[in-house]
Amino acid sequence: MEKKQIDWANLGFGYIQTDKRYVSNYKDGAWDEGTLTDDATITLNECAGVLQYAQTIFEGLKAYSTEDGRVVAFRPDLNAARMAASAQRLEMPVFPEERFVDAVKQTVSANRAWVPPYGSGATLYLRPYMFGMNSVIGVKPATEYQFRLFTTPVGPYFKGGAKPLTIRVSDFDRAAPHGTGHIKAGLNYAMSLHAIVTAHAEGYDENMYLDAATRTKVEETGGANFLFITKDGKVVTPKSDSILPSITRRSLMYVAKEYLGLEAEEREVTLEEVKDFAECGLCGTAAVISPVGKIVNHGEEICLPSGMEKMGPITQKLYDTLTGIQMGHIPAPEGWIMEI
Ligand code: PLP
Ligand code: COI
Repeated sequence: MEKKQIDWANLGFGYIQTDKRYVSNYKDGAWDEGTLTDDATITLNECAGVLQYAQTIFEGLKAYSTEDGRVVAFRPDLNAARMAASAQRLEMPVFPEERFVDAVKQTVSANRAWVPPYGSGATLYLRPYMFGMNSVIGVKPATEYQFRLFTTPVGPYFKGGAKPLTIRVSDFDRAAPHGTGHIKAGLNYAMSLHAIVTAHAEGYDENMYLDAATRTKVEETGGANFLFITKDGKVVTPKSDSILPSITRRSLMYVAKEYLGLEAEEREVTLEEVKDFAECGLCGTAAVISPVGKIVNHGEEICLPSGMEKMGPITQKLYDTLTGIQMGHIPAPEGWIMEI
């Protein structure tokens, strides 16, 4: 299939409308069979549950062109499972996990011309989501829902590409203990908008959120988990019940241990100990691994020894191995790569 004529190498992380998207509706207790459509618009009742009480969840994953010309998706089964957990927490019906994976296949196949070429630096971002459709005025769950999945070609999430980021410790909280930080609900991102706008206005790339209860432990950023590298080369990632269980982070912890022979540990990380780490990165589908060079805590600068010019050496190894697996030139663990 002929690729679209796009300046792939200079794409940012934005929305470009592609040809087809998948839609399935839930009504009277059942999902319909689902279909691909050209129609990128949604018409809603003024009182739709999603508009009144933010009953919406989403996922994010990517499809890649491999060196040998295949198109693959990375671990879509884990996104399907996480979306099921998100649905349950927001009292929404689960979109069956095998149908989620099938929707990924159908939508990527139908938009093959939009999958950026191997080596272009761009990828096809997939956005599955689900929301309450029917009118809801008392505070209660909707009874009708729509599941959709669209695709958009994207470049790096952060403007500088692989240049180390400067982040600040946020005075705002993202997620409460026993709240919704561990699921991918739109409301968590609405919570973060003021924090990110003010961070950008002050010259920071992102926010480091702390645990809301004690404000002493590192949680995550608005759209990625943290990875730290200790001075003796161990990979450490924060453990918390109020952060999103990142699929990229889970994959990187495996890669660290099984491919790179590193020690890798998920444990509580205090803000106090951040100054002792050698490297820091943000990991996620959109962020991949974006290096952090500086963390500012109310005027106190924590400068990572890896500096402001390039990724630290272990972060780089993790990045190269993970993207090598995703783009098909490093053998993947069983079940990580789904060919489209
Ligand atoms: N944390 C938050 C808040 C996110 O939005 C994301 C992105 O999905 C992640 C972490 C990373 O998760 P994943 O690696 O599954 O994309
Ligand atoms: C993703 O990485 O898929 C996300 O959903 C993060 C978002 C900030 C774009």
